Amino acid sequence: MSQQFDVIVIGGGPGGYIAAIRAAQLGFKVACIDEWKNAKGGPALGGTCTNVGCIPSKALLQSSEHYEHAGKHFAEHGIEVKGLSLDVGQMLKRKDQVVEQNNKGIEFLFKKNKVTFFHGRGAFVKAAEGGYEVKAGDETLTGKQVIVATGSNARALPGVPFDEENILSNDGALRVGAVPKKLGLIGSGVIGLEMGSVWRRLGAEVTVLEALPTFLGAVDEQIAKEAKKAFDKQGLKIELGVKVGEVKASKKGVSIAYANAKGEAQTLEVDKLIVSIGRVPNTIGLNAEGVGLQLDERGAIVVDGDCRTNLPGVWAIGDVVRGPMLAHKAEEEGVAVAERIAGQHGHVNFNTIPWVIYTSPEIAWVGETEQQLKARGAAYKAGTFPFMANGRARALGDTTGMVKFLADAATDEILGVHIVGPMASELISEAVVAMEFKASAEDIARICHAHPSLSEATKEAALAVDKRTLNF
Ligand code: FAD
Ligand code: NAI
Repeated sequence: MSQQFDVIVIGGGPGGYIAAIRAAQLGFKVACIDEWKNAKGGPALGGTCTNVGCIPSKALLQSSEHYEHAGKHFAEHGIEVKGLSLDVGQMLKRKDQVVEQNNKGIEFLFKKNKVTFFHGRGAFVKAAEGGYEVKAGDETLTGKQVIVATGSNARALPGVPFDEENILSNDGALRVGAVPKKLGLIGSGVIGLEMGSVWRRLGAEVTVLEALPTFLGAVDEQIAKEAKKAFDKQGLKIELGVKVGEVKASKKGVSIAYANAKGEAQTLEVDKLIVSIGRVPNTIGLNAEGVGLQLDERGAIVVDGDCRTNLPGVWAIGDVVRGPMLAHKAEEEGVAVAERIAGQHGHVNFNTIPWVIYTSPEIAWVGETEQQLKARGAAYKAGTFPFMANGRARALGDTTGMVKFLADAATDEILGVHIVGPMASELISEAVVAMEFKASAEDIARICHAHPSLSEATKEAALAVDKRTLNF
């Protein structure tokens, strides 16, 4: 006799575990199946985000930033550091501890919310009376509703599989045991810039090869330009418009043949290569075909605006469906689906999902870019304010970048906010709230912001929309 559940969630990443908790809060009997194994073979809830994504990358970004500050910036504060040394092993150990705290935290949340957890692979067996039969490792469950949250995997270059020794995905990139002398990255997207920054700060000579001729094409051009200037200054070498050819790994390292933007043949020799050219939706082993679950040409599960698949009672959320591959997007979809199952009106506003790149300077944005507004012929006003003119940024010693507001020319409604600079990841929240409430730039300009704080740059950029900054 199989165990019966109201809701079965397949995948325990940010999409799946949050969906499971919300469904349990709403009174459903919930199972969550996740197959991720920690180094000892035990469960490691939290998916890509917790194990090999958001959390460990931010832990290493923090550690490497401390190292760079101690080596390069403490002196200007009158702090002398003698005999600075680096223990990569300890850095990785701390990162692993941070990951484990998060794994355990989710296990605790499952117990607290009475979500039944199954460690193993989840796979559809067949449609059953009033729902679906689903394998959870060796056990068989039946669920009235199934939420698929199986995430994504790193995309490899055609014919160049990851060996996680020399040719690394995000997984291997977070486990390099010693600083490589020369590090290559293919793809100057989010992972390329974050992981490139980590290893550059720790002393690697980093070269990033990017196929597109423009740097960070999805980011507001003015902001991307400012960020590129900062990365160039830091010595992060980014080559745009390249065509990668043969990639050969040997005991000595990796050799990458490529054509540069002028079409000239080049070779890059590195000790390690990180391939960060995007991610592919993951439905491996799910038996999607067996139950007729529809996938698109990219392998993503086809869903409507409410995350309904083509099968009644089957939903899909997060990286395995369309839309940005972001943890908070997956979480929002998880909550919304659980609420829809309960007959409520869960909603995700795709126009106000913030993006953050955790480099230094950080890059964060919400809403439309200036190039998008131009492309759709929108009448808009822009206002910018540089951190150079912000007292708190000067005190921090971190004055790179700016806040930029884009507002409707007629109504002053905020259409987009773009930040490159210190703590952009935190500052962007104010813009998200403002846009959710359909605020105008003037609304932000009239709000009292604490002094001295970086958030004053946000207020000033809003004032700049009306050409009336006070401190610039
Ligand atoms: P996942 O987190 O991928 O979780 C899916 C889970 O399902 C996994 O545990 C997997 O083992 C399990 N699973 C899959 N198939 C089965 C099956 N058949 N049976 C049982 N279990 C199964 N996003 C951000 O918002 N901010 C960041 O700072 C950020 N940093 C990142 C850094 C890196 C290096 C990477 C790679 C990604 C980063 N992301 C970040 C993206 C973020 O990790 C993903 O968007 C997010 O994890 C997607 O959540 P998900 O629940 O859809 O899938
Ligand atoms: P990405 O989509 O951000 O960047 C991939 C880059 O590789 C693009 O610039 C693309 O033009 C380039 N590229 C593709 N094929 C190429 C080729 N053959 N040669 C050279 N360049 C090539 O993907 P990335 O960095 O792998 O990250 C995957 C996803 O993970 C992100 O899109 C994001 O959704 C998520 N993520 C989010 C983070 C955050 O929120 N801070 C951090 C890291 C990842």
